[in-house]
Amino acid sequence: MDAREMKVKAAEAALAHVEDGMRLGIGTGSTAEEFVRLLAEKVHGGLRIQGVPTSERTARLCLELGVPLKSLDELPELDLTIDGADELDADLTLVKGGGGALLREKIVAAASSRMIVIADATKLVETLGAFPLPIEINPFGQTSTRIAVEKAASRLGLSGEMKLRRAGDELFMTDGGHYILDASFGRIPDAEALSGELNFIPGVVEHGLFIHMASFAIIAGEAGARTLKA
Ligand code: A5P
Repeated sequence: MDAREMKVKAAEAALAHVEDGMRLGIGTGSTAEEFVRLLAEKVHGGLRIQGVPTSERTARLCLELGVPLKSLDELPELDLTIDGADELDADLTLVKGGGGALLREKIVAAASSRMIVIADATKLVETLGAFPLPIEINPFGQTSTRIAVEKAASRLGLSGEMKLRRAGDELFMTDGGHYILDASFGRIPDAEALSGELNFIPGVVEHGLFIHMASFAIIAGEAGARTLKA
């Protein structure tokens, strides 16, 4: 099974949790897009859901495939969000934001009664941090914010390269008009401590550590999809 087939397997298993009439948060990334494709088939078969997309990219795909959408302000409380992750550990702490949508993803997940993470087995790690942590920052005062992030990380014994994400010749801009700092801290042994430090920095809009947000994860590997609970 290649990586794409594993993503499809995880998405299929997640679809089994979608019930008629649900208000559904819809994630961003290649795994979430496999879910959107399968969801669209169900919608055409008569399933009624209302989706809230976590990015403009996901919104475009949903519109193209005929998945009905609402804004989060129209549907401020959701039943379920299904989203991918860049990394997750056995406690279901996630690193997200590889696709640049972490702010809306976190807002949508927080507005949902449940969040199911879908991922291929390569995303499950013992300790988070091999994937650079995306930190969404306000463009105003970005250098000061970067220094503050460096100092906060060093208080926890973390250091490493931090790069402003680029999209070709330009700096990458999120749907909310912010930049992303990709921080290669290496191993992150205490995600809660790092999250707390980052949350104190005014120029940090949000970061990609999702803690106590996922209800469970569906991990697809060679042997098929399995459910991972914390
Ligand atoms: C989007 O901002 C991310 O949080 C994605 O959920 C994450 O990058 C997973 O993407 P893939 O499913 O493409 O690996």
